Amino acid sequence: MNELVENLRRNRNLSDDELRELIESGSYDDDLRTAADEVRREHYGDKVFLRGLIEFSNCCKRDCLYCGLRASNRTADRYRLSMEEILSCCEEGYGLGYRTFVLQSGEDPYYSDDRICAIVAAIRERFPDCAITLSIGEKSRESYQRYFDAGANRFLLRHETADPVHYAKLHPADMSAQNRRRCLWDLKEIGYQVGAGFMVGSPYQTTENLIADLRFLQELQPDMIGIGPYLTHHATPFKDEPNGSADLTLRLLSILRLMFPYVLLPATTALGTILPDGRERGLKAGANVVMPNLSPVSTRKKYEIYENKICTGEESAQCRNCLEMRVKAAGYQVVTDRGDVRRP
Ligand code: 5AD
Ligand code: FES
Repeated sequence: MNELVENLRRNRNLSDDELRELIESGSYDDDLRTAADEVRREHYGDKVFLRGLIEFSNCCKRDCLYCGLRASNRTADRYRLSMEEILSCCEEGYGLGYRTFVLQSGEDPYYSDDRICAIVAAIRERFPDCAITLSIGEKSRESYQRYFDAGANRFLLRHETADPVHYAKLHPADMSAQNRRRCLWDLKEIGYQVGAGFMVGSPYQTTENLIADLRFLQELQPDMIGIGPYLTHHATPFKDEPNGSADLTLRLLSILRLMFPYVLLPATTALGTILPDGRERGLKAGANVVMPNLSPVSTRKKYEIYENKICTGEESAQCRNCLEMRVKAAGYQVVTDRGDVRRP
């Protein structure tokens, strides 16, 4: 086994120079993948946790330059799910064995704190044994506290990039890396299990940015880390920017597994979109979570963060079965428990 990889595994850390070498060179990939798979097996065995994803609104007041749901995209066909529709997604998911529901949306002011709390409380009451994860963007600390008190357990908010200068190139002037961090620390202090993460190959991203992302994650020590390749969307200012790299994403998944042995690491839809067997390869590189789509098939195509997103056609009505087969074929087992993080 290569010495750099061995050191990363042993110390869960490397110098910036060493990380740069690992990130930029493909020559350690086999060793990285092997070590990462061993470490995930030490901590989680061959278990892969399922999270049922419910994309309940594609309306967004923000204007992130990379995202197809951005407010300036007048061509997006916007929708909102009612409380009843959301609950029936959960009902269906519960029957399929899901014990975690991830409620994701754009930053949609229609869903006031009262409405979010009512939705969370209703799910909490109907499905007391399930974890409720919110992924609804930047809010005040008071709002985060209210959702938590209503019964939410987890929150996903990717930091996107830890470098404030890079952040400013990806976002409009009313957003800042500083507020993003504030949100993540508030969520953690309130008691949520927190997921951060970043896009791989977003426009202007450098190796130094990726190292800064890893350093930020070491500081935050999140429970979950979501990464996926940046993918082009035609109705954004970045429409001519190239997609991120699948290989680099897989390499970073392995590095993350070695740096954060306990972390919940999804093999993301974006990775499955850029490579037909991307999610399977993500699992083999150290990921241990998949997030099948539970949204109504009628709205799936409309949640178009990027182009050619998988699991949006009629055939995807049963992602659960499809993913279970894929996970098994990759050599792992899907488990249906809540899959809480197992910190040392
Ligand atoms: N390509 C890949 N990922 C994207 N996201 C947003 N836009 C894109 C894109 N064009 C990611 C962001 C966001 C998550 C929900 O999706 O990281 O946090
Ligand atoms: Fe959705 Fe395969 S996981 S169709």
